[in-house]
This record gives sequence, C-alpha cells and structure tokens, in this order.
Amino acid sequence: MAQKIGRNDPCWCKSGRKYKTCHQAFDAKIARIKEEGHIVPDHDMIKNAEQIAGIKESAKINIAVLDYIAEQIHEGMSTEEIDRMVHEKTTRMGGIPATLNYQGFPKSSCTSVNEQVCHGIPSEQDILKEGDILNVDISTILNGYYSDSSRMFCIGEVSPEKQKLVKVARECIDVGLKEVKPWGFLGDMGQAIHDYAYAHGYTVVREIGGHGVGLEFHEDPWVSYNSKRGTEMLMVPGMMFTIEPMINMGRVEIYIDDANGWTAYTEDGKPSAQWEVQVLVTDDGYEIISY
Ligand code: MF3
Ligand code: CO
Repeated sequence: MAQKIGRNDPCWCKSGRKYKTCHQAFDAKIARIKEEGHIVPDHDMIKNAEQIAGIKESAKINIAVLDYIAEQIHEGMSTEEIDRMVHEKTTRMGGIPATLNYQGFPKSSCTSVNEQVCHGIPSEQDILKEGDILNVDISTILNGYYSDSSRMFCIGEVSPEKQKLVKVARECIDVGLKEVKPWGFLGDMGQAIHDYAYAHGYTVVREIGGHGVGLEFHEDPWVSYNSKRGTEMLMVPGMMFTIEPMINMGRVEIYIDDANGWTAYTEDGKPSAQWEVQVLVTDDGYEIISY
C-alpha cells in the first residue's frame, strides 16, 4: 500500500512545496472521481515543471526536423532520403531519433505513403511520385526526454479526394484538442474525433492509438479515438499524451505487413491519413508541446 503523505510533507510532485498547498486537494478530487467508477491517472503520469521544460527542449528538435522535412520533401526522392535527413538534423541538434532500434525498428522515422496507415519503414525503393500523400512521423530523445509528432505531406498535384482526406484528418486534431481540459475524459476527445471523421464518410482505425509520452516513448494511457464521451481516463493538469488518429478513406480494417512486422496497411487498399500532436493538459486547457 502507498504510504500516506502528511499535510506538511513535501509534495510527491517534487515541486518543493508542502503537500497541503500543492497536490492535496487535487488528490482528493481524483479520489472522489475514482469512487464514481472512473479510470484515473497515477502520480507517475503527472509531469512536473522540470520534466515539462526538458520535454519542451526535446520537442524543439522534433519540430525543427519536421519543418526541415517540409522544406526539403519533393517528388522523385526516396523515403530513405527523408530518413537520412531526419537522422542528420536530429543528431546535429544533439538529439537521438527515438524510433531507431526501438523494439527492432530499423529507421529514424516512419514514412507512411497512401494506403500505408502508419509505421512505414523508409526505403531506397520507395520513390515519392506526384499524387502521393504521406505521413512523416518524427520522435526525439533529448536528455532522456521524449517528443513525438507527425504531419502529412502532399507530393505535387494530389487528387481532390486525397486532399480532402488530409484536410479532414488535420481538422480531427483541432476537434480533439478542443476537448482537452482538466477534469474531462479522454473519451470526450475520442468521441469528438470519431464523430467528425465519420460525418465526412471516413473511418477511424481501432487497433492503433495514441499514448502517454515524455519520460518514455510510450507511456500509459493508451488513447483511443473510437471511445465515448465521459469514459476512458480522467484528464488532469500535468498529463501528456499524443492525439494521432489514423483516418481511413474507406473501410476501417487494417493489417500488418508480415514481411517486416511493422507497417500497417488499409485492408481495402484505399488511402489513410494521420497527423500527430503531443499535448499537455494544463490548469485551464491544453498546451501543444510538439506538432
Ligand atoms: N511515433 C510512432 C508512434 O508513436 C512510433 C511508433 S514506434 C516505431 O506511433 F517503431 F514504429 F516507430
Ligand atoms: Co505516437
């Protein structure tokens, strides 16, 4: 059993303040909500100011790498070239690409083209051509702190159907962010995204979701975008997670490439789009950490 903290003891969050003037009322409120049957976060999901500052330094690299790729990406280049740029830019800025050797993942980024849903592996063989849409997913470690975000890119003239998919996937992030606030639930955000995507005739991938992030690459909670308002984990200030719904133009089913064990594809071969934002729950809403 966890030891009870005295009112005058230092707070568990390491702010240096006394428990009674720091997180005591916060803990009591969470305990009440848990009593009501809700899922609530543990203390180790709450980032303190020092950790948030460190994660923001990591995110500076993550954002700079995405900005750099946005400048450099073009028709005719391979996804391997993108990956090389990611690796060079990240390490030059003092960071480590978090995906490299992560559970055996072989590259410094994920590049997912058209019907690839996510976790595409950069390759010399995959040459970008006019009309392609792709997600470039970047994650960085700096001084042990993790950042993770991704964007979509359109190569040359892209069909109106694909353009719309990319746009709606982006709007799903905005719709989700509006629901990020303390004492709401992750399901508020999940349902908002689900409903928005389905209103446009799209589907939202079920098997793969977002995650807590910051002190590790993938922390609890797992984040669904097929959830229901008022369900899933309570959001409280100091929680940090990703919003990264995969939006399919066609059917919801996906499969994982047997040959590499990583890359997810749409079962029906239709395109999929994904943007990813790393977000912090604050006292009055949210703060974007990486995008
Ligand atoms: N940024 C990706 C995510 O959080 C990374 C997945 S792990 C990888 O979903 F090894 F596939 F890169
Ligand atoms: Co992620």
